[in-house]
Amino acid sequence: MPSRRDFIKAGAAGVLGAALVRPHHLIASEPALSLTASEGRVVFGSDQENPTRVMYYNQSIPGPLIRIPQGRESVIRFHNGLDEASSVHWHGLRIDNAMDGVPDLTQAPVRPGERFEYRLTPPDAGTYWYHSHMRSWAQLALGLAGVLIVDERNPPPVDQDLVFAIDDWRLDRAMQLDTASLGSMHDWSHAGRLGNFITVNGNTETTYPVASGERIRLRLVNIANARIMNLLFHEPQISVVAVDGQPVKPYAPGSGRVILAPGQRTDLILDMTGAPGDSSIIELVIGEYAYEIASFSYGQEVRREQLPDTSIALPENPANRLRLPDQLQHVPLLMEGGAMGGMRSATFEGREMDIRELVQRNKVWAINGVVGMTEEPLFRVRRGTAISLDVVNDNSWPHAMHVHGHHFIDDRNPGTWRDTTLFNRAERGAMQFIADNPGKWLIHCHMVEHMAGGMVTWFEVT
Ligand code: C2O
Ligand code: CU
Repeated sequence: MPSRRDFIKAGAAGVLGAALVRPHHLIASEPALSLTASEGRVVFGSDQENPTRVMYYNQSIPGPLIRIPQGRESVIRFHNGLDEASSVHWHGLRIDNAMDGVPDLTQAPVRPGERFEYRLTPPDAGTYWYHSHMRSWAQLALGLAGVLIVDERNPPPVDQDLVFAIDDWRLDRAMQLDTASLGSMHDWSHAGRLGNFITVNGNTETTYPVASGERIRLRLVNIANARIMNLLFHEPQISVVAVDGQPVKPYAPGSGRVILAPGQRTDLILDMTGAPGDSSIIELVIGEYAYEIASFSYGQEVRREQLPDTSIALPENPANRLRLPDQLQHVPLLMEGGAMGGMRSATFEGREMDIRELVQRNKVWAINGVVGMTEEPLFRVRRGTAISLDVVNDNSWPHAMHVHGHHFIDDRNPGTWRDTTLFNRAERGAMQFIADNPGKWLIHCHMVEHMAGGMVTWFEVT
């Protein structure tokens, strides 16, 4: 369990200098948006002397906030300014397979200096994100991620629409990313790469100005490699209105806690009932400690005396209108491996190997006894087939399972369409969906070290 000392104290908000690259917005009113990946430096704390080397999109940590309209095509021109190959995956969007950004499955890796044009026509509105899908255990840890919002045609009225892109970095005393530990087998076989420095929108302990009586939509996005974010809100009036982009019947999260596994999103509506001059903090809970990661500060203005009486429910998405039939095609999905997992052997590259040989190849996880990507998919079905992925998490670690190109119902929480769901150790559950998007799609753990270590497979819709 990490202790408070494991966390480096960063400079307080307000002293961040101009050298900090602030997130800026890209809005799809221009004919095409452009996204350039490159290496550079940003200042995280107050220490201007030691900017941190990162990889970023458009010189911004996180990448620019992209807003595109629902149901219409947006063009995003990606330029790879890195000196290694990359690609961009649009996490949670039910889009054309050729635009899904998975190197060697849906497209060729984008080589240094090359460009790739992504054409996105998202059917569903909501909160999504984008990230590198090339060596993501390294490129994500170094900063290649950003938030993507698909705007509703008629968004519900709010006074502020805020985004918290929450990330977890592993920094050394000189505020540099610990790159020596990238690829560490210890991380890969345990919980994944956990950091010691939490940022919200690239900042630490940022204060967001609010007004008494305001209604705020807050979009939470966990863009960390592997950390499950356990957030604690102290505002009394909080409702969850969407998860992973898809609207849910609004509900109050129990005791102000919101848990986000890597890759997951939650949209909240906050009715700010504090008085002018109040403040309220948002904390990240780790073990028995809670760390402030951001705060709301009430100004002197009173926006309204009474809460607005308009509904906070979001308009339904096409994804929510899918109905699962009674008959589903069942596909078992047994997750094995990792430290303290007892996996003795598994098949890798077509050959049964014992765990020692697997570890030498940096492979420590298996799905149905098979490690990593294979020539043949886990299953191949005709378009429209209803699938139940029957998951047994038979190892000692939690996993955030993500299905590309589709939203599914987690049978442990029916009524909610997700694209990423958490299985705790020894948990079972089913991810049920209609395979209605033709192409080749990944299923993997979003603790990206686990994916790199073998917890990834794919399916094909014909
Ligand atoms: Cu967000 Cu395959 O990933
Ligand atoms: Cu995992």
